[in-house]
Amino acid sequence: ADHDAAVDAVIEAHRDMEGPLLPILHGVMARIGYIPQDALPRIAKALGMTAAEVHGVVSFYHDFRTAPVGQKVIKICRAEACQAMGAAALEQRVLAQLGLPDFGTTADGKVTVEPVYCLGLCACGPAALVDGAPRGRVTAELLTGGT
Ligand code: FES
Repeated sequence: ADHDAAVDAVIEAHRDMEGPLLPILHGVMARIGYIPQDALPRIAKALGMTAAEVHGVVSFYHDFRTAPVGQKVIKICRAEACQAMGAAALEQRVLAQLGLPDFGTTADGKVTVEPVYCLGLCACGPAALVDGAPRGRVTAELLTGGT
C-alpha cells in the first residue's frame, strides 16, 4: 500500500529498542499523520506479535488515529467541569450536525471530532480546541459554523 515504505523505515529505526511498539506507533503517526490499517500486520510481524495485539494497543491510546485527519479538527472537552456545563449534550449536537455516529472524521474528510480531557479552561466550559486554538463557552453552532 501507499505508506509501506514509510512504515518499514519507522520499524527499522525502532525495532531494536526495548519496548519498540509505542515508539514505532508514534513514529508512524509523525510520518503519516495516522496509523493505516495496512501498517498493523507489518508492525506485528516485525515485533513477533499478532495484528490483533497491535490493534489493541492502537485502540487503547486516544493519541493514535486510524484514519487521516480532517481539514478542521474539533476537540471537545469531556472532563468533569465541562460535563457540568453541558458538554455531553454539546458533543451529541456537534456529532449530529456533522452526521457522525461517533467521534471521528466526516466522510468528506472535512471535519474530525475528537474527545479531549481538560484544557485548563474549566471556568468557562464547555471548552473545546478548534484547530489547536482553545475556545471557552462554545456552542454546537460555533464549532460547526462554516463547515
Ligand atoms: Fe473542560 Fe477543564 S474540564 S477544560
